Amino acid sequence: MDKFIINGPCKIKGTIKLSGSKNASLPILAATILFDEPVEIKNLPNVKDISTMLDLIKSFGFIVKKNKTNNSVIIKKKKIKTFASYSLVKTMRAGILVLGPLLSKYKKAITSLPGGCLIGARPVNFHLNALAKLGMKHKIRKGYIYANAKKGLKGSRIKFPQISVGATENAILAATLAEGTTILKNCAIEPEIKLDLTNFLNKAGAKIKWTGKRSVEIKGVKKLKSVSYSIMSDRIECGTFCVVAAISKGELKINGLNPRIIRTEIKLLKKIGAKIKTYGETIFIKGPKKIKNIKFLETKEYDGFPTDLQAQFMALLCKAKGRSVIHEKIFENRFTHIGELKRLGAKISIIKNKAIITGNSDLEGAELMSSDLRASVALVIAAIASKGKSIINRIYHLDRGYESIENKLKKVGVKIKRLS
Ligand code: UD1
Repeated sequence: MDKFIINGPCKIKGTIKLSGSKNASLPILAATILFDEPVEIKNLPNVKDISTMLDLIKSFGFIVKKNKTNNSVIIKKKKIKTFASYSLVKTMRAGILVLGPLLSKYKKAITSLPGGCLIGARPVNFHLNALAKLGMKHKIRKGYIYANAKKGLKGSRIKFPQISVGATENAILAATLAEGTTILKNCAIEPEIKLDLTNFLNKAGAKIKWTGKRSVEIKGVKKLKSVSYSIMSDRIECGTFCVVAAISKGELKINGLNPRIIRTEIKLLKKIGAKIKTYGETIFIKGPKKIKNIKFLETKEYDGFPTDLQAQFMALLCKAKGRSVIHEKIFENRFTHIGELKRLGAKISIIKNKAIITGNSDLEGAELMSSDLRASVALVIAAIASKGKSIINRIYHLDRGYESIENKLKKVGVKIKRLS
């Protein structure tokens, strides 16, 4: 199993080019199931979750032609099977996103229940209830969902009981080719959905209109037309590199994202003392000499503070002057990084879903274990700010979602080495 060796503390300076967004790519790749004609997707990040999704799509009988020089694929339909196996879906929760499009287009699907990060129970009841409202019948047996919609899916009114990124995506994907109009309320409005998935499908001829902050109307169409589409940049990768600069008194120029998309994160980084300037799709960030604490920070659905940056900000706040509290409100078990941060000398205690970070910690390198995607990158960040050598084991978690992270970090001054 690969591991990282990091020698800190590191001086950070340079330019980062962001990769395509993993969380925007996954539903868009699932959406290609809806097409008869070829589709080109550009700017895909070269990460494990994307190759798993491409393998899944191939396993249905699509031909996937990769062009490695520009991170694009052309996906063409051939002979279709509607079975998503455990071996492909087990590592990636987004595997459930193929259920809506398979039902909508082919009226049946057998899909394994998904896997993913160990950050909570992560059920799929909102996905299944929304698809049932559109006409799906299903049974769950031995870890598989056996689903059909013999007469095809029909538009409906659905109000999600709780905001869910995946369930909103699955319902939009299913409704795109359903008969009649679907109205979805209390939707997730992450930019990967409200901007990228919507723009992609509408470019192909779908009729999706956001009618309110969390309401969307989808008029079903008979078919989608061939399209070429470039995925947006990864806002979580952007936030992660901002934290790298902030914790290390570093200076980074980060290219490729409209700063308005991460205005919450920018506000927080300014609050801890970072200097930030934005120009077009470029963000300049300079880390402060002394990091200020944040008294209370809670994770929230977009456009609140993202749970996918909670672990990274926790690493940052370990170095802040004074006490900070982070309340994790989206997932019930997303604190697996805390035990590992403590090995570096962090002082953090947990009360239910709140982490109390004492701050002022002099971190010292240690041997650590990655536990999930974002937790792993938080360990990398903390190791960058620690004195001496850190070894981070099981970095396959990182490879699920960060494209060439060690090369990007090396280029801006991190002393990092991968051992295979
Ligand atoms: C997506 C993101 C993930 C991010 C999360 C929250 C992708 C591929 N993943 O995950 O990076 O951390 O949004 O922003 O885009 N829930 C249920 N029943 C369901 C669905 C969800 O109870 O059927 C609960 C979850 O357990 C969780 C909350 O709802 O507590 C939000 O989850 P959701 O927004 O669905 O996250 P994902 O789509 O899995």
